[in-house]
Amino acid sequence: MTQRTLSIIKPDAVQRNLQGAIMKMIQDSGLKIVAMKMLRLSKDEARGFYDVHKDRPFFDSLTDYMSSGPIVVSILEGENGIDKYREIMGATNPENAQEGTIRKAYALDIEKNSVHGSDAPETAQVEMAYFFSKMEMVG
Ligand code: TYD
Repeated sequence: MTQRTLSIIKPDAVQRNLQGAIMKMIQDSGLKIVAMKMLRLSKDEARGFYDVHKDRPFFDSLTDYMSSGPIVVSILEGENGIDKYREIMGATNPENAQEGTIRKAYALDIEKNSVHGSDAPETAQVEMAYFFSKMEMVG
């Protein structure tokens, strides 16, 4: 089943100039980029994006961090695209991430973990619409 998923290259990775290296890992996996742009979230926009986590203890720190610098958002497409991207991202906490994953290679800690990927078809739909209009999805 072909699926689309939302990817974010987070501020820690953009700040270290890792956009190209991370996109290469994504493209080498066979996933196709069907939309892409760079932007900076406001604190409120970061809160809106991570609304499901609003009652978690890390919410304030996470939304400060996600609004601390530019990010690269993209929509990726491929066979089982949602799970496939989560596999190449690796575990949320880089200490648990497998060799060969993006987070193993680049994440700094559980918060500054370099990338985001949608976790299910329903959240992928909401997250893609948060950042992109239909006109921007060129694939
Ligand atoms: P989560 O949805 O659990 O992970 P994933 O990004 O792998 O889908 O959490 C969302 C983000 O929240 C995670 O990427 C980083 C942040 N986070 C923390 O800062 N501390 C934590 O203890 C957890 C669980 C997440």
